[in-house]
Amino acid sequence: MITLNIEKTLGFISKEAVASYESKVKAAQEALEKGTGKGNDFLGWLHLPSSITKEFLADIKATAQVLKENCEIVVVAGIGGSYLGTRAVIEALANSFSWLQEDKKNPVIVYAGHNIGEDYLYELTTFLKDKKFGVINISKSGTTTETALAFRLLKKQCEDQRGKDMAKKVIVAVTDEKKGAARITADQEGYKSYIIPDNVGGRFSVLTPVGLLPIAVAGYDIEKLVAGAVDMEKSCGMDVPFEKNPAAIYAATRNELYKNGKKIEILVNYNPKLHYVSEWWKQLYGESEGKENKGIFPAAVDFSTDLHSMGQWIQEGERTIFETVISVEKTNHSLSVPSDEANLDGLNFLAGKRVDEVNKMAELGTQIAHVDGGVPNLRITIPELNEYNIGQLLYFFEIGCGISGYVLGVNPFDQPGVEAYKKNMFALLNKPGYEEESKAIQARL
Ligand code: PA5
Repeated sequence: MITLNIEKTLGFISKEAVASYESKVKAAQEALEKGTGKGNDFLGWLHLPSSITKEFLADIKATAQVLKENCEIVVVAGIGGSYLGTRAVIEALANSFSWLQEDKKNPVIVYAGHNIGEDYLYELTTFLKDKKFGVINISKSGTTTETALAFRLLKKQCEDQRGKDMAKKVIVAVTDEKKGAARITADQEGYKSYIIPDNVGGRFSVLTPVGLLPIAVAGYDIEKLVAGAVDMEKSCGMDVPFEKNPAAIYAATRNELYKNGKKIEILVNYNPKLHYVSEWWKQLYGESEGKENKGIFPAAVDFSTDLHSMGQWIQEGERTIFETVISVEKTNHSLSVPSDEANLDGLNFLAGKRVDEVNKMAELGTQIAHVDGGVPNLRITIPELNEYNIGQLLYFFEIGCGISGYVLGVNPFDQPGVEAYKKNMFALLNKPGYEEESKAIQARL
C-alpha cells in the first residue's frame, strides 16, 4: 500500500493540532457519505472504484482492442478533467521513450484538444498524414471549444484518410448520455460511445471511461488500476480510525498548515514519469479548493531537475510553502554508475552504486535542507510504479480532496470561475448569443 508520513511537518504544526481535526474530518466524511454537503450532486466518484464491474471493464477492453487492431496512433482529444488523468496514468507507466519506439501491440497515444495552438494542431495533423490513426473524443459537456475544434479537424482528416467506414470504427466518443455536440455527433455517425456519469465531475473522472479507455488502449491493465483504487477506497473509508486513514491525515495536515500561513503546496516527485500526476493533482486541488477567496495554491516541481531552477525559491523564498513528496521506493529497472579511469568528473566515488541510490540521497538531502529552511514536508511513499499503486494514488488524492475541501468550507465539486475566460473569449470572437458582451468588451479594449 502507499503510505503517508507527516513527521516532517511536526516542527511547524503540532501533532495535537492535526489530531484536533478528527471531528471536522469525520463531519466531512459523513457529508460525503450521506450526500448532505455542498455540491452533493457530484459525488459519483466516491464509491466509483468498488462499483466498477468486470463486465464493464471487459467492454472497455473490447473497444480498446478494436483501436489497437486498427490504429498505429490514437489521438486522445480532451482538456482538463477530460485529459489530465489519462495522461497522468499513461506517462507514469510508460517507457519514457515509448513514443519513439515501435510497439506492435499498442498504438502510440498522442494528445489534442487541450490547447488552441495553431502550430500544435498543424504539426499534429501533419504528423498524422499517412498514419493509421483513431480518435477518442472526450468531453463531458460535449461543447468545450478546445476539444471541439481539435475534433473537427481530426474527424475530417480521419474520414478523408481512412474512409468513412473505418473512421466510424476508430473514432470513439466519451461524453454525456444525452446532451452536447459530441453526443449528437456520436449518435448520428454511429460511433461506439461511453457515458460520463452526470454525478462525476471532470477532475474526478479518471476511473470512468474518460481514463479507462485510453489507458487500456495504451496497453495498461485497467483491472489492476481499479483494484488499487478499490483498496484505497477501503483504506480511507468511514470505518477506518482517523489516525489510520491516510486521506483524513492528509486533509487535516494541509488544512492546519494553511491555517499557519502555508498558502502554497508543492507536489514534488523524484521520478520524471510522475510529471503529469502532478498536473492532474494541480487541477484536482486547484479547481476544487480555489474559491471564495480561499484555498491552498497547488504548484508542482520535478526534482532533482527543478532544484536547479526553483530550488532557490523553495529553500529561501517567502516562507509560505509546504511540500508533499511522492517518493517511489523501487525503480522498474536497474542501472549502476560505471567507473572511469580518468575520473575527470570526480564521480568515481559513486562507481558501482545504483543511479537510484544517488537519487534517493538527493531526496533525503533535499528533505533535510527544506525542513531546515522552513518548508514542512509530507511524504507519500509508493512501493513502485505500476497500475495497482497508481490506482491507489488516484483515489487517495480524490478522497483527500473531497475531505479537505469540506474541511476548508468550500464546495469542492464546482468550478464557477472557469467560465469567466470563456465568456470573454466568445465575446471577442463574436459568438452568436454574445452580442451584448461583445459590445461591452470591445469598449474596454
Ligand atoms: O474538471 C472540470 O470540470 C474541467 O476541467 C473540465 O473537465 C474541462 O473543462 C473539460 O470539460 P468537458 O469534459 O466538458 O469538455
